[in-house]
Amino acid sequence: MTDGDPDVELEARLAEQERFEPPESFVEQANVSDAGIYDEFEENWPECWEGAADLLDWDEDYDTVLDDSNPPFYEWFTGGSLNASTNCLDRHLDERGDEVAIEWVGEPVEEDNRSYTYEELHREVNEFAAGLRDLGVEEDEVVTMYMPMVPELAIAMLACARIGAPHSVVFAGFSADALATRMNAADSEYLVTCDGYYRRGDPLPHKEKADEGLAGVDHDVQTVVVDRLGDVSDHEMGENQYDYADLVAENEGADVEPVQRDAEDMLFLMYTSGTTGEPKGVKHTTGGYLSWVSWTSQAVLDIKPEDTYFCSADIGWITGHSYIVYGPLALGTTTMMYEGTPDYPDKDRLWDIIEEYEADQLYTAPTAIRAFMKWGSSYPEKHDLSSLRLLGTVGEPINPRAWKWYYKHIGGEECPIVDTWWQTETGGMMVTTLPGVKDMKPGSAGPALPGLDVQIVDTKGETVEPGRAGYLTVQKPWPGMLRTLYNNDERYIEEYWAEYSDTDSDDTDDWVYFPEDGAKIDEDGYITVLGRVDDVINVSGHRLGTMEIESAIVGVEGVAEAAVVGGNHDVKGEAVYAYVILEDGYEESDEMRQRVVDGVDDAIGPIARPEQVVFTPELPKTRSGKIMRRLLEDIANGDELGNTSTLRNPDVVKDIATKVSGD
Ligand code: WT7
Repeated sequence: MTDGDPDVELEARLAEQERFEPPESFVEQANVSDAGIYDEFEENWPECWEGAADLLDWDEDYDTVLDDSNPPFYEWFTGGSLNASTNCLDRHLDERGDEVAIEWVGEPVEEDNRSYTYEELHREVNEFAAGLRDLGVEEDEVVTMYMPMVPELAIAMLACARIGAPHSVVFAGFSADALATRMNAADSEYLVTCDGYYRRGDPLPHKEKADEGLAGVDHDVQTVVVDRLGDVSDHEMGENQYDYADLVAENEGADVEPVQRDAEDMLFLMYTSGTTGEPKGVKHTTGGYLSWVSWTSQAVLDIKPEDTYFCSADIGWITGHSYIVYGPLALGTTTMMYEGTPDYPDKDRLWDIIEEYEADQLYTAPTAIRAFMKWGSSYPEKHDLSSLRLLGTVGEPINPRAWKWYYKHIGGEECPIVDTWWQTETGGMMVTTLPGVKDMKPGSAGPALPGLDVQIVDTKGETVEPGRAGYLTVQKPWPGMLRTLYNNDERYIEEYWAEYSDTDSDDTDDWVYFPEDGAKIDEDGYITVLGRVDDVINVSGHRLGTMEIESAIVGVEGVAEAAVVGGNHDVKGEAVYAYVILEDGYEESDEMRQRVVDGVDDAIGPIARPEQVVFTPELPKTRSGKIMRRLLEDIANGDELGNTSTLRNPDVVKDIATKVSGD
């Protein structure tokens, strides 16, 4: 779809352009516009991060910026104490109590959008915090949330922060099994969930899924249920299950004294996928994390208190934690939460919202931009998007063509784009241009942020020449970094540090963080991220472990073995391709294929659903018995097949390839 082909015209003018200056009108008002910040931070490291900590209100001042006496267990702002909910709410009340904190846009089923002023949000957070205490939640006990994009999710997170109970949010699209695994791993005895939510106009039950998950939890759980659907749902409440509205009503007017948390106390846990089947519980702290997301929200997203800021991510992922809830609210701005999808009731839904609420920033994912591009520019053209001042992307590499489409059709060539590379583990943004300072180069995220030492290295850890592909590494700690994997310090070292560090050393210079991404750097220090180099695939900006999907498939009756790889996909970035060997007595059939898909749905969720399931009598293996995933990727991509000479069974590759291409 080209819509009278504005793309052709765009291509002619923009295709050649590789460098874009930030618009003057933006630079003039930018929060950060002094290019000296890079040198200044380098010379003044680690004290440069005091500025980030200064964005927060501390109950007790910290005495050390960085304690690096026991790498890689770094501590930031030690001796200090603070409360995240105070920073996101109480301190804004005097000046901004009547301003909107959360602008919630529901699916357009009823007229039920909701605005929460800071005053109102503060009120409900206090009431729910008191409700959680009534249930017995104590400081340092992990509360799990399994909720879609309803305001009560943000409220529950802030209520936990207020009483010093770390939260662990499980994406609502994950399956019941995935919920149970995470609750068991975190020993979490409390769950906040909801009856259901709307998807493309229809109510979708959710509590059933939560109950099913609870059946798999190996300890007692107290559950709070938010009523999103009202009369539409007739869910039943079981033992130890409480209505959110009752808990809040019983605590009407409650004032809950915020618990003073040490800077290094855990604010939350977030489970993410890794190479092995077991999800990793990434631990983030109160002082370092909150400083990091506040500083990056200010410096990169250019958020000001008077802005209306729109990030279209789901709070079930780290982007929503850092850049819907904590960063924007810490800065006292208006943050939007959207319940639905970008194509319902029509494909201009986001543009409609931006126009109606006069959003200043939009932060979204390349997969969404590629979908918008496919739908055509007539959808944004129907709307006045002139309120936008800055655009952002995150989650996966953005191809220059999609970048330029975004720049022209959404930003009207007047908004800088920040392509932000970071991870669940980094807490917040790491590699991106500062929009008021640096030129943009489509396809490249940009230089590392000031104060960060990012280097592209070879397998031995030596810095590679500009232009050469290598591995992205971070050579100095930063405040927003994860502190460990929950209850697993050993795995923390193994997963992120062992590759390039001298693990016997206690000198910080010998410790290098490895995020498992490939990248290259150019002469100007701009970094192009090439993608994961481990067995993690990125579907629509969502991180999935191939091993997790494989073990889901192997769990299906009749399946003997499975291999999963990521193949290129023009909207999703990558899609899941599954190669499956059946046990004797089972035959390839549509029914069998469906069972494989259902198996993945049940174990993880629909986001991990295979695009294609290929039944094969054998998998390509090396002589030592390792599956050659690269070859399976070539097949998925329809690429020329790589070297098969080291295989134990070279013929099988051609057989599979023929099957996939249907020749
Ligand atoms: C992985 C992290 C960061 C929040 C959302 C995803 C990839 C992320 C970019 C980008 C190229 C990117 C990396 C990274 N990634 N942003 N701007 N350009 N790749 O968080 O689930 O922890 O995934 O997403 O591969 O390692 P996550």
